[in-house]
Amino acid sequence: MSKNSILEVKNLNVSFHSRGQQVKAVRGVDLQVYPGEILGIVGESGSGKSVTMKAVMGILPENAKIQADKMDFEGRELLSLRPDEYRKIRGKELTMIFQDPMTALNPLKKIGKHLEEVIMRHSKCSKAEAWNKGVEMLRLVGIPMPEERMKQYPHEFSGGMRQRVLIAMALSCEPSLLIADEPTTALDVTIQAQILDLLVEMKEKYNTSIVLITHDMGVVANVCNRIAIMYGGLIMECGTTDEIFYSPKHPYTKALLRSIPRLDLEEGERLQSIPGLPPSLVNPPAGCPFAQRCQQATELCHTLLPEYKQFSPSHKAMCFACEGQEGGAGK
Ligand SMILES: Nc1ncnc2c1ncn2[C@@H]1O[C@H](COP(=O)(O)OP(=O)(O)O)[C@@H](O)[C@H]1O
Ligand SMILES: [Mg+2]
Repeated sequence: MSKNSILEVKNLNVSFHSRGQQVKAVRGVDLQVYPGEILGIVGESGSGKSVTMKAVMGILPENAKIQADKMDFEGRELLSLRPDEYRKIRGKELTMIFQDPMTALNPLKKIGKHLEEVIMRHSKCSKAEAWNKGVEMLRLVGIPMPEERMKQYPHEFSGGMRQRVLIAMALSCEPSLLIADEPTTALDVTIQAQILDLLVEMKEKYNTSIVLITHDMGVVANVCNRIAIMYGGLIMECGTTDEIFYSPKHPYTKALLRSIPRLDLEEGERLQSIPGLPPSLVNPPAGCPFAQRCQQATELCHTLLPEYKQFSPSHKAMCFACEGQEGGAGK
C-alpha cells in the first residue's frame, strides 16, 4: 500500500513488571492506519489489543515498559513527546472510547457539562458556543431532544445512549483517529448494531480514521476496511476485510471465523468455539503462541516463531502452514 498512513507503528513491544514477574503483552507489533478507514483489531481476551492501542494513546500505567522502532502519528513521533505535548494531542487529534461509558462519565456531572468541558479544553470558544456545539453533537449521534438531554445526568441515559454521548464527546474535536475499544460489548445486539452503524456514519461525515477493537469477529465484517488478527501479543494475520473473510490463511483466523454465530447453520450443526485457552504471557512459548491449540501444529511450530508470509500487498500471515499457499487461493 503506498497511501500515506496517519498512524504507523513499527515493532512495538510492551511488557509489564509486577510482583517480580514480567508479562510480555505486546511483541513486535507493526500497524498502519490509513486516512478515513476503519481498522479492526480482533482477538480473544488477553491478546494484547487494548495494550497496543493504549501504548499509542500514551495511557499505559507506570509499570508498563514500551519499546518501539517507530510510533508516527501524522508526522509526529509519539515516543518522544513530553507528557504535556501528549496531553494536547490526546482528546483532540487522538481519542479513545471504552466498553463501559460509565467509567468515562462523572455521575455527578450533567451531560452538557461533560460536552462543554471537552469542547472548551481543545478549542477557543465561549461557554455558550461550547453548549450549542454540544447540543449539535448530541443531535448528530442520534440522541432525541438534545437540549433537554444536556441537562440530565449520566444515570438518566441507557447504556446505548451513554455510548452515543461518548462518541459525541470523542468526535466534538474532530479527531483524525478514534480508537474504539470494545464499544459495543456491553450492549445488547440491536443496540450494538446501531452503535456500529453510527461509527461508520461518523467516519464518513468527518473522515475520521477508526480503530475498532473487538473480541467478536461478527462485529467487524460489515464495518471494517481492514482487519488485524491478534493473539498472544502478536499480529497473526492482517488483510482487507475480504481477504480475512474469504481467503483466511492463519488457523487462528479460521478458528475465529468458525466461532461466529450464523443464521445458515443446519440443525445439529454447532457453533465451534476454539478449544483450549490463550497461553500465559509471563513466559510466552518460544514458538507460535497458538501452537498448543492448533490442529495443524508441527514440532517446528512449538519451537520457532514463523516469519510473515505476504499474500498480497495488503495481506500477510505468520504461520508455517501457510508456506505452500498462494495469495487469493481461498482456504
Ligand atoms: N496494567 C497491567 N499490568 C500487568 N499486566 C497487564 C496490565 N494490563 C494488561 N496486562 C496484561 O497484558 C495482556 C494483554 O492485555 P490486553 O491488551 O488488555 O488484552 P485484550 O486483547 O483483551 O485487550 C494480558 O495478559 C493482561 O493481563
Ligand atoms: Mg481489551
